[in-house]
Amino acid sequence: MQGQINQYTVEINNFQPANAAELETFRIRFLGTKGLIKDLFDQFKTVSAEEKRSMGKGLNEFKQLAETKYQSLKEQLEKQPEKTVSKEDLTLPGTGFQLGSRHPLSLVRNEIIDIFKRLGFVVAEGPEIEDDWHNFSALNFPEEHPARDMQDTFFISKKTSSTSAANSLSPGEGRGEAGNNGDEIKNTSAQTSPKERELKGDIALRTHTSSVQVRMMEAGKPPFRAIMPGRVYRNEAISARAHCFFHQVEGLYVDENVSFADLKQTLYHFVQELYGEGTKLRFRPSYFPFTEPSAEMDVSCSICKGAGCQMCKYSGWVEILGCGMVDPNVLENCGIDSEKYTGFAFGMGIERITNLKYQIRDLRLFSENDVRFLKQFQTEIS
Ligand code: PHE
Repeated sequence: MQGQINQYTVEINNFQPANAAELETFRIRFLGTKGLIKDLFDQFKTVSAEEKRSMGKGLNEFKQLAETKYQSLKEQLEKQPEKTVSKEDLTLPGTGFQLGSRHPLSLVRNEIIDIFKRLGFVVAEGPEIEDDWHNFSALNFPEEHPARDMQDTFFISKKTSSTSAANSLSPGEGRGEAGNNGDEIKNTSAQTSPKERELKGDIALRTHTSSVQVRMMEAGKPPFRAIMPGRVYRNEAISARAHCFFHQVEGLYVDENVSFADLKQTLYHFVQELYGEGTKLRFRPSYFPFTEPSAEMDVSCSICKGAGCQMCKYSGWVEILGCGMVDPNVLENCGIDSEKYTGFAFGMGIERITNLKYQIRDLRLFSENDVRFLKQFQTEIS
């Protein structure tokens, strides 16, 4: 009997249940009504009086051991959440989860921002719903000027009698017919202050992020060195080459003695970073109401390196942005002394640059959310 007690003591001391079921088996085995301890006590009844004296204490201690062990294990298990044995086969290879990807326009936008940040430009943002003053008037677009038709947009509310016939046309119709409804033309600019005109003017979706330049100049003091990324809207019929919204990054640098040479050098650096060393650029005279002189900038085609291909329409050059020296009128409209300060500005379409970079030929792909298109940019990290 002593031998049995010794053997069970070792067993009890080593017992470590994996779950409540195992502990219950332990309880039944040792402490149950038909358990081993009951058995030992039954045996105890049959031993001689002498043996009883020597074994009684040991048997009671053994019973005590089994009970305390059971109690403490029970408390332990109640504290811990039960470990369940997984029904899954843990040796099977895992199911990989799908990695997302950045949208190609975000990749290119981030790349452009990074280049200008390294040149000390900060990022400025503004509202997509804009008033006439910030989108047009402050930027030297006279109310009746046909330049407004180049950027026909979507109007949210029209507060003044409009001078632009194109505003009420359906997409793509009748460009260049601005001012045909001449009866309604009222020139408000002479009598009202810029602030009053801002409050009175039409509310529209911005056609460019130049409106952010105006907001920045109105709110602060030169020098300004910032880029303005953002979404812009134009009233265009949707096709492979045009959409009613797209994305821009514009830039502005205003300080004392800023010259066209600074503009060229900045853009030269930008292009070398974006398309690689040795990329050529050329400026062609152009017109924008808010810059004088104005230029369009072309870069040597990054696909054929100037030899001629479909992307550059066999010219070896692709146009990527518009730029120029900020018109003194614009500076004055924003409360900046144009005798003291000069500046340059530029603006580019992110879609255009992305198309060239990835040889995408249909603008609609950018907004259709077709995963077969978007998945192709998974390896690009930015
Ligand atoms: N705002 C012009 C556009 O959207 C781009 C531009 C910006 C041109 C700055 C010159 C200077 O077409």
